[in-house]
Amino acid sequence: MARTLTEVLIFLFLSIILFPITLATARPDTFSRNLSPKKLGLKREKLSHLHRLTSSFGLVTMMDDPLTVKPEIGSKLVGRAQGIYASASQSELSFLMALNFVFTEGKHNGSTLSILGRNNVFSGIREMPIVGGSGLFRLARGYAQAKTHEIDFKTGNATVEYNVYVFHY
Ligand SMILES: *[C@@H]1O[C@H](CO)[C@@H](O)[C@H](O)[C@H]1NC(C)=O
Ligand SMILES: *[C@@H]1O[C@H](CO)[C@@H](O)[C@H](O)[C@H]1NC(C)=O
Repeated sequence: MARTLTEVLIFLFLSIILFPITLATARPDTFSRNLSPKKLGLKREKLSHLHRLTSSFGLVTMMDDPLTVKPEIGSKLVGRAQGIYASASQSELSFLMALNFVFTEGKHNGSTLSILGRNNVFSGIREMPIVGGSGLFRLARGYAQAKTHEIDFKTGNATVEYNVYVFHY
């Protein structure tokens, strides 16, 4: 089996209370495409060891939110974002994210991607690891870059662009 590198461009639609999620792309018919690893400057695998103290505290929230193909909440549904986020920093608003993107559309129907990472919500681009996947995304690993697209402070809703790069088979 040949290994594939896929890019998934997504928008995360969230509310401070309900934290719904939207998945979106430039093209409405498809939300992923295959890429050459070289294009991303990915050559050789490296192993790094990071060691630091962490403390965790605060609210834990469960979510099960719609994923759609455009930033608008009414656009085509392609899946759900299901998981947990927890306030894990004592000095800023930063979440531990543990969630699955569960796809329900087209060839991705039934496939999942698992994210486990840190979401420092008010910084420009937040990078979170993709730690696995199932179905079409079996053996997936990669990363997601989250960028806030829009915040509505009146309703507490926000739209966040997620650009996901995953290796899989
Ligand atoms: C996705 O798969 C489920 C389970 O096999 C099926 O019930 C559903 O109709 C499928 N949806 C689409 C859009 O193909
Ligand atoms: C904000 O999000 C809620 C769901 O959390 C939704 O019902 C409402 O329509 C949204 N408001 C806007 C302006 O998008």
